[in-house]
Amino acid sequence: HTDPADYIRQTIRSVPNWPNPGVTFRDITPVLQDPQAFRVLIDLFVYRYMQQRLDLVAGIDARGFIVGSVLAYELNLGFIPVRKKGKLPFKTVAEDYSLEYGNASVEIHTDSVRPGQRVLLIDDLIATGGTMVAASRLLQRLGANTVEAAAIIDLPDLGGSQAVRDTGLSVFTACT
Ligand code: PRP
Ligand code: HPA
Repeated sequence: HTDPADYIRQTIRSVPNWPNPGVTFRDITPVLQDPQAFRVLIDLFVYRYMQQRLDLVAGIDARGFIVGSVLAYELNLGFIPVRKKGKLPFKTVAEDYSLEYGNASVEIHTDSVRPGQRVLLIDDLIATGGTMVAASRLLQRLGANTVEAAAIIDLPDLGGSQAVRDTGLSVFTACT
């Protein structure tokens, strides 16, 4: 295992027909469970972002919290959560987005970022890109400068990372 991306890719578990028939779910729990894979993953992001003069890491509910908070800590940065609707107690702004069936909303605390702050947005996976685009809109509404959208896994066949790039945001993923 010399290439970090290969090691991470080999450690991710693909679960057929979950949560629905025909869907293959990419499960990151084996990466988190394996201390070597977890470190390779976090270090990949640390090396990419350590010179980027970031101010904050914003992690997306729920698996983006796991990688985002560890990365923020390693980079000596604060962490801010982008949460599913109804979870944050203080004043929030919300963005609705569409799922394959129905709609969803993400929220952020209005005081979580100051205008001009340089923020890295991170999640476990980009599928359609809807979650990442909605989260980046929240940060934009608060005046943040979102430096990049990062994820462990891209599912390029679903076009999500391209959809995020089409909004003008840079995208980095550890593997496909
Ligand atoms: C998954 C995943 C991303 C999002 C990606 O989260 O963790 O956040 O979906 O899909 P998209 O690119 O099509 O928007 P999910 O909504 O299943 O929430 P969870 O992390 O709480 O399980
Ligand atoms: N894994 C994790 N989250 C997801 C997936 C997946 O394969 N597809 C859509 N959200």
